[in-house]
Amino acid sequence: MNKTRLAIFASGTGSNAVNIMDYFQKHPAIEVACVLSNRANAPVLEKAKTRLIKTCVLSNEEAENASILINLTTQFEIDYVILAGYLRLIPAEFILKFNRKIFNIHPSLLPKYGGKGMFGDHVHRAVLQSDEKETGITIHYVDPAFDEGEIIDQFKCDLVENETVESIRLKINSLELAHFPAVIERTILQKQ
Ligand code: GRF
Repeated sequence: MNKTRLAIFASGTGSNAVNIMDYFQKHPAIEVACVLSNRANAPVLEKAKTRLIKTCVLSNEEAENASILINLTTQFEIDYVILAGYLRLIPAEFILKFNRKIFNIHPSLLPKYGGKGMFGDHVHRAVLQSDEKETGITIHYVDPAFDEGEIIDQFKCDLVENETVESIRLKINSLELAHFPAVIERTILQKQ
């Protein structure tokens, strides 16, 4: 049986992308077929290359062009797209083609702290300033509106006194590394 093929879209460091590549490296049914970035110098690209995973770089303009994304994913025979720290808008036509087949991870308990401008430390700073007692991560399908696709799963962590943006970032990253690959795996296998 052919494996289900994932494309990871990532713009940055790629700790989630690396974790996903490693999780599926010897998986019997799912494989990471390529890593796409809109930044030619994104560290995630080197990390993919050392794992012998194909990479692809698009300009910001190309990354927002649905036909280019459709052609690329067709060429790589992609079944699912994983957004892991990917900071470009996904064109609506592409989202329609991959309906419920694009997963995103967001570093808050959506619908809280989502939407335009809410990424990375902006999220953690907003959480800190609101004196929240807990935060967490959301794994959701991508829909044409930012951070509003159907939620697949959420995981929480407590916030204690004297948290900082840095301490929240670390807690969130641990949650992401612990759960994102397994949620992808479970969701894809359930559909088969
Ligand atoms: C993560 O916090 C994820 O929730 C968000 O972008 C960040 C990516 O981090 N979408 P990394 O590049 O995977 O380290």
